[in-house]
Amino acid sequence: MSRLDWTSHTGRALQGRVRVPGDKSVSHRALMLGALADGVSHIRGFLEGEDTRATAAVLQQLGVLIETPADGERRVHGVGLHGLRGTTQPLDCGNAGTGMRLLAGLLAGQAFDSTLIGDESLSRRPMRRVTDPLALMGARIDSQDGLPPLQVHGGQPLHGIQYTLPVASAQVKSALLLAGLYAQGDTEVIEPHPTRDYTERMLAAFGWPIDFAPGRARLSGGHTLHATDVEVPADFSSAAFFLVAASIVPGSELRLPSVGLNPRRTGLLQALRLMGADIRIDNQRESGGEPVGDLVVRHAPLHGIELPEALVPDMIDEFPVLFVAAAAAKGRTVVRGAAELRVKESDRLAAMATGLRTLGVAVDEAPDGAAIDGGAMSGGIIDSHGDHRIAMSFAVAGLIAGGPVRVNDCNNVATSFPGFLELANGCGFALATV
Ligand code: S3P
Repeated sequence: MSRLDWTSHTGRALQGRVRVPGDKSVSHRALMLGALADGVSHIRGFLEGEDTRATAAVLQQLGVLIETPADGERRVHGVGLHGLRGTTQPLDCGNAGTGMRLLAGLLAGQAFDSTLIGDESLSRRPMRRVTDPLALMGARIDSQDGLPPLQVHGGQPLHGIQYTLPVASAQVKSALLLAGLYAQGDTEVIEPHPTRDYTERMLAAFGWPIDFAPGRARLSGGHTLHATDVEVPADFSSAAFFLVAASIVPGSELRLPSVGLNPRRTGLLQALRLMGADIRIDNQRESGGEPVGDLVVRHAPLHGIELPEALVPDMIDEFPVLFVAAAAAKGRTVVRGAAELRVKESDRLAAMATGLRTLGVAVDEAPDGAAIDGGAMSGGIIDSHGDHRIAMSFAVAGLIAGGPVRVNDCNNVATSFPGFLELANGCGFALATV
């Protein structure tokens, strides 16, 4: 595939209704639980991204029939907890850390061996955080010095453990809970800070007994998952680019309908409000057991803040675009306690610091964060490092930069946000492919 680059120019004030695609975290989990359930689960609002399609393809390789009755829908014919079939072919998770880590837990409890592989970026991401605790449960997983590919050895009897996560990670928690479905006894996960609880909520919706509260979850093995329909809300992390864009472009007002507002995801909303943003939630309601609402965002002058560290896990994917908001704000914004950003799809602290400096913004990078001095941005050429969220963040920066912002290597935007360019241009961006 040839490399896709963008240029982002100042456009008009952003106006209109922007319906962002379905939530990535929820879409991955709906496929996996649907596959292990008895019966047929219908998923609506499914994210048609490369990450979630990779998970669907892996499950199909393992013998699960997954139909696509329409775009954004999947019908998953569950095979039951013990119905997956092994394959000698590698299972390709693409760019998706969530896919690989959750599948590692799920596959650890199978009777057959599996090999999980990923693209260049995923092949650099740390896997000991899942393989170490899974080994404590009795799993046998070989990695390449802690990196993918993962060789998961089947036929290992698993037993429950109580595990305190060294870093707040919903992926690790979820991997252990999925392995726990196959374990003898109780599996309990305790978190240093609560993280997104979609696995817990969805297990309950599929009828698996689970006891959970913010910061901990416990289940026992040997029950049954019952097929259920899943309504996927719009992804807050995708909405985030438009929240920042409308906040920084004068005269803007956007409405983002039916966005998932799980409190473990909406840290950016709080951070932007602390910076002076004007964001309203309309029509707040429950859908499929999740809080959702319409976000209405209007331009407002932003000022720098010291970001409360407690917000970090609740906005872990939103830092690239927060950095753009900080660059557009008056004064200094300081982020600390965010070292996890170094092991995402790219080293996001380094990628954002380098990119913003290219646009003339003063950034002091620290091992676990950065200080950004807001001010005028110039045009320039940015390397996205193949990271979807870095690419979209600099597309937002281009809206207020003094010259065109060229963003190189935007192909991976399709992993989480297919159709971003069209949707963005539809509300007032001036984004072109080059
Ligand atoms: C995710 C958890 C987060 C997040 C990722 C999706 C999930 O990762 O960054 O995009 O769906 O569980 P960590 O658990 O590594 O923090």
